[in-house]
Amino acid sequence: MAHKNIFPCIFFSILFCVSFTVAQGARTFNIKSYGAIADGRIDNRKAFLRAWMDACDQKEVSIVYIPKGVYMLGSVEFAGPCRGVTMFFMKGDLRAPRGAFLNVETWLGFRYVDNLIMKGGGTLDGQGQSAWPFNQCHKNNNCQTLPISVKFDFVTNSRIKSIRSIHSKNAHFSFFGCTNINISNVELLAPDYSPNTDGIKMGSSSNIRISYSKISTGDDCIAILSDTSNIDISNVYCGPGHGISIGSLGKYTNEKNVNGVSVRKCTLNGTDNDSLSCSNSRCYVQEYIWNFEF
Ligand SMILES: *[C@@H]1O[C@H](CO)[C@@H](O)[C@H](O)[C@H]1NC(C)=O
Ligand SMILES: *[C@@H]1O[C@H](CO)[C@@H](O)[C@H](O)[C@H]1NC(C)=O
Ligand SMILES: *[C@@H]1O[C@H](CO)[C@@H](O)[C@H](O)[C@H]1NC(C)=O
Repeated sequence: MAHKNIFPCIFFSILFCVSFTVAQGARTFNIKSYGAIADGRIDNRKAFLRAWMDACDQKEVSIVYIPKGVYMLGSVEFAGPCRGVTMFFMKGDLRAPRGAFLNVETWLGFRYVDNLIMKGGGTLDGQGQSAWPFNQCHKNNNCQTLPISVKFDFVTNSRIKSIRSIHSKNAHFSFFGCTNINISNVELLAPDYSPNTDGIKMGSSSNIRISYSKISTGDDCIAILSDTSNIDISNVYCGPGHGISIGSLGKYTNEKNVNGVSVRKCTLNGTDNDSLSCSNSRCYVQEYIWNFEF
């Protein structure tokens, strides 16, 4: 007769458990339910944008879920502000269209998003091989530029973790007007001959932490540009590439200082001058911790 009493008990604990999970859990917006097709060919912009807009409109935590597979995606901008924490969860891989797309600024853009989490282990393939021959910037100062793989503009309090980016047409990641961003376990790869493929570039940003990452590119591993402060770089492997650069400052008028840059426990291998560089005399670096470890 004992189970007569136990039964409602189990029933209620299951009920409790289910409702608890729902309350705790995030709402998931699977791009496949929005019609995305993982054949590596069809442009999935519409599905991604719709999933993003629904997730962004959600209070609490919402997840744009990209299941395993290869999704071709044209240039798209994921704009905020969003109402809660928005996660861009990449189990699958994203592939840019082939070709140059000259003067398209960005492949993927995140703008005005607070509390963005990008993670999942997926790969962003910029298909740069098909674009690099169109880069004329080595011989023309007013050259048309190729798109940056992922551009974060005015993104705050966010994390980028366990993402791989390969063969970007231009830089892999770019940050402008961003604050409190943690980047960890990212792998940014492009061949040493690929032009202007900076790993991470940032300007007018503050409180950026980059750790446990590997950056091998044809240009700067990390470029810290005008008006940027409190940058903490640790446990980063850099090379090949131009190294970690504070600079290109002084090229334009009205550029602001860079200060508070800390580089610790990094390995630079096969980089220009094997060092941290400050590109010219108008570059004021106020704090400078350089702990070189192989
Ligand atoms: C980034 O990391 C620092 C140090 O661990 C932590 O204090 C901060 O809250 C983190 N920021 C985000 C947005 O995760
Ligand atoms: C430096 O790079 C070379 C060439 O890629 C590689 O063979 C070597 O193992 C690297 N050294 C370290 C310490 O990572
Ligand atoms: C190495 O550093 C020197 C001195 O700062 C500079 O003149 C030179 O251009 C640098 N080389 C490269 C390849 O960046």
